[in-house]
Amino acid sequence: MRDQRFDILFEPVRIGPVVAKNRFYQPPHCNGMGSWRAQAHAAMRGVKAEGGWAVINTEHCSIHPTSDVVPEVLHALWDDADIPNLAVMCDAVHAHGALAGVQLAYAAYYNSNRYSREVPMGPVARPVDSYYPVQVRQMDKTDIRNLRRWWGAAQHADRRVRRLARESRPAAARADRGHAGGRRGRLRRQRPYYHRRDVRAAGPAGA
Ligand SMILES: Cc1cc2nc3c(=O)[nH]c(=O)nc-3n(C[C@H](O)[C@H](O)[C@H](O)COP(=O)(O)O)c2cc1C
Repeated sequence: MRDQRFDILFEPVRIGPVVAKNRFYQPPHCNGMGSWRAQAHAAMRGVKAEGGWAVINTEHCSIHPTSDVVPEVLHALWDDADIPNLAVMCDAVHAHGALAGVQLAYAAYYNSNRYSREVPMGPVARPVDSYYPVQVRQMDKTDIRNLRRWWGAAQHADRRVRRLARESRPAAARADRGHAGGRRGRLRRQRPYYHRRDVRAAGPAGA
């Protein structure tokens, strides 16, 4: 018999349109499998769902080849070919009544784009602080508009992942939400250190 003060951990909690069956929430964390080892990744997340966690997230999931974090092996949602890799994880998680989440991400100073060979870009021009010290170029207004478009496309693909997962397993819990997280060097959560750009040059992100 557990102590009653822990009961709250086992109560369902609403997250927007979905309900997590308890308060055990696995935040995004990488594991060396990602898109390149999608079956192993799905099995690992599935074990967590089987163990009782209510929400299981992917790791960092890059939304565009200009933000490629290779040699780290993480997830990507660059085009339709990436959708099945994430759908298989959704199925593994849904099989145990848990919700699946994806951490859509755009690294800005963490990625050297060793796989895509694209030039990295970010709010200011400076070297990346990861394995390979290549130079990040400063985004202009067109880059900012493109990034907003890519982000929208990734969210659209995320909805298709969920649809594909539902189609392949009709009894699955209907999920899920994106995880709004990030760490240093990722564009959605920049520290003041990076806020040196002259916004008059390229305009605010909403321009
Ligand atoms: C191996 C490892 C990989 C991680 N990968 C990510 C990641 O891809 N994205 C992210 O936002 N956080 C990542 N994290 C941070 C975790 O999500 C989490 O915040 C951290 O482990 C602290 O857990 P806590 O907040 O429950 O104390 C990672 C952590 C570890 C240990």
